[in-house]
Amino acid sequence: MCGIVGYIGDKPVVDILLNGLQQLEYRGYDSAGVAVMCENKINVYKAEGKLENLSSELLIHKDEYKNSTMGIGHIRWATHGAPNVINAHPHTCNCGSLVIVHNGIIENYKELKSELEKKGAKFRSQTDTEAVAHLIAYIYNETKNLTEAVRLAAQKIDGAYALCVMHSDKKDELVATKRNAPLLVGVGENEYYVASDVPATIPYTKKAMYLNDNQIVTLTRQSMTLIDSEGNELPKKVETLPWEPVALSKMGYKHFMLKEIHEQPDVIRNVLTGKIHSSDEPIILNEVKLTKESLKNLNRIQIIACGTSLHAAMIGKYIIEDFCGIAVDVEASSEYIYRKTVTDEHTLVIGVSQSGETADTLTAIKQSKARGSHILIITNRPDSAMAREADSLLSVNAGIEVSVAATKSYMAQLVSFYLLAIYMAEIKGNMNTEALKTLKSDLTLVPQKIEQILSHKEYIQKCAQYYANTKDFIYVARGINYPTALEGALKLKEISYINATGYPAGELKHGPIAMLDESMPVLSILMKGSVYEKLLSNSEEAKARNARMIALTNSKDEKLKDLFDFIIEVPEIQELLSPLIAIVPLQLIAYYISEYLGKDVDQPRNLAKSVTVE
Ligand code: M6R
Repeated sequence: MCGIVGYIGDKPVVDILLNGLQQLEYRGYDSAGVAVMCENKINVYKAEGKLENLSSELLIHKDEYKNSTMGIGHIRWATHGAPNVINAHPHTCNCGSLVIVHNGIIENYKELKSELEKKGAKFRSQTDTEAVAHLIAYIYNETKNLTEAVRLAAQKIDGAYALCVMHSDKKDELVATKRNAPLLVGVGENEYYVASDVPATIPYTKKAMYLNDNQIVTLTRQSMTLIDSEGNELPKKVETLPWEPVALSKMGYKHFMLKEIHEQPDVIRNVLTGKIHSSDEPIILNEVKLTKESLKNLNRIQIIACGTSLHAAMIGKYIIEDFCGIAVDVEASSEYIYRKTVTDEHTLVIGVSQSGETADTLTAIKQSKARGSHILIITNRPDSAMAREADSLLSVNAGIEVSVAATKSYMAQLVSFYLLAIYMAEIKGNMNTEALKTLKSDLTLVPQKIEQILSHKEYIQKCAQYYANTKDFIYVARGINYPTALEGALKLKEISYINATGYPAGELKHGPIAMLDESMPVLSILMKGSVYEKLLSNSEEAKARNARMIALTNSKDEKLKDLFDFIIEVPEIQELLSPLIAIVPLQLIAYYISEYLGKDVDQPRNLAKSVTVE
C-alpha cells in the first residue's frame, strides 16, 4: 500500500502532486507529504491524517514553492511506526539534500540502520524507509551519481519497494525503481510523471511505461533512460493506455459505498454483455484459453484470494464443483505462499483480486506459475501486475471502486465465476443442457431483482438502525450462502468496527451457541432450497437461547413471523444463484449501521483499498 507520485517538467509541481495523491488515496490515508525542488534546496511538507490536512499545510507555505516544477509525493498506510508527521514520507538523509518516497517494506532495515548509524546516519523516524534514504545518500556522497547510487543501494535492500528519489544537487533529475510493488512513468511533452497507479497520471497523459522489477528509470525534462540492475541500458516500452480520466463523483449519494451498492445492477449487465448472447448459445469468454483437452488434463482447481475476493472464491468453488464436477480448493493467499503446496501442470490456479496487485495473491500466483500451472486471473484491473501473469484473463469490468469496502467488485467477481463455471461445464459437456439454459436466462434477471431490493431499502435501514448499538453480530447460513454470511460479517466489521462473525449454521451448536443471549443479533440467510429446513431448525435453536433474530429470506413461510423480529424479504431466485441477491441487504445493513454510528464509511480506520505488502 501507500501511493507514490513524482513530477518533472515545467508546470507548478504541487498541484500535480496533490492531484495525483488524491487519486491514490485508496492506497492509504493516514498521513501524506511532498518534497519539492526550490531554488537552493529541497523543501519537505508533511501532515498527519487525510490529504486535506496536507493541502491546508501547503497553502500556508505557497510562496515558498510557487516556482517549483519538480517534486515527489506520498500518501501513507503505516507499516513501521505510528501514523504521525515524523514517520510520514518523504524521508531525508541527515542534511536533507536527498529525499525519497517509498511504497513497500524493507525487510532488512534494522541491519541497514545499524550499519548506517555506525557511519554517522542520524535516524529520526521509526520507519523502514528512512534506512533507504541514508543508504542512497551515503553511496551518492561517494559516486555523485544519483542513478548509480539508487542502483547500488537496491542491491543491498531485501524486501519490496517502489521508490522515487531526488537530490538537491540534481535540479533536473528524478530517479525511480521498483521490486514487487507497482510503478509506472507517465510520458508527456518534456515532462514525466511517476506514480503507483494510472489514475494519478491519466489526467495528464495517456502514454506510460510500466517498470519491471529491478529496473531503474532516470528522468530529466528532456529524457528518460532505463537500465537494469547491472547498469545496462534497456529499450523503453511506452504504451498508450486505454483509460479515460474519470471524475470521481458521488452522484448525489452520501457516500461512495452507497453509490457503488446501487451501481450493482448495471455492473452485472456490463459483465454479461458480450458473454451471454442468448440462453441457447454457449458463453463467450474471449481471453479464457481453456479447452476440452486442458480441462481433461486437470486434477484439480486451486483458487487463491484475500478478503472479499476470498469469499467470492468460496462461492466459485461451490458452483464449479456443482456444474463441472472438478475438485476445487480455496485458500487465503497469505497461507498458500508459506507452505509446501502440491500445485503442478495439472492444476488450474485461479487468482481473484479486485486490484490485481494484492501482494500475497501476486506472490502465490507467481509460485504456481513457476510450477507450470495454467493461471487464470479474475480481476477488475486488466492492466495490473496480476493480469500480466495470466495465461487466461477474466476482466470483471466493475469500473473504479472508490469505497474501501468492496461491494460492486464482489458482485462482478461472483457473476464472473458463474460465467466461468457455465463456460467450463459447456466445454466439458457434463451438465444437463436445460439446467445450463435456465441458469443463463436466470442470470440475466438478477439485475432487476437487485433493483427491487434497492427500491425497498428503507426497511433494511430501519433494521440496521435498530441493531446499530450492538457490540457483536452473528451471521449464519448453510451451503452456497455460507460465504455470503462471511462477507456480510466482513462488511460490518470493516466499516462499523462491530465484532461480526459468519458461521455455517450447523456449527453453532459446536461452540458459538454458548455466546447467545438476549443481547446477540443473529441473522439467518434463509434462501429456499436444499438447506432451508435445516437452517430453520438451527435458527430455532438460536431463538431458544433468546438471541435477537433477523431473517434474510425469499420465502413467504408464515412460521417465520414467530421466529424472527425482522424479516428482510428478497425476490425469488434459484438456490444456485441466490448469493447474488442475498449479499445486497447485508451490504446495506453494514452501510446503514456505519452511517448511523457516524463512522468514516468510505475510508474506514486502519484499512487501505490496495494491499501491496505481504
Ligand atoms: O484487491 P483484492 O481483491 O486482492 O483485495 C483483497 C482484500 O484486501 C479486499 O477484498 C478487502 O478485504 C476489502 N476491503 C473488503 O471490503
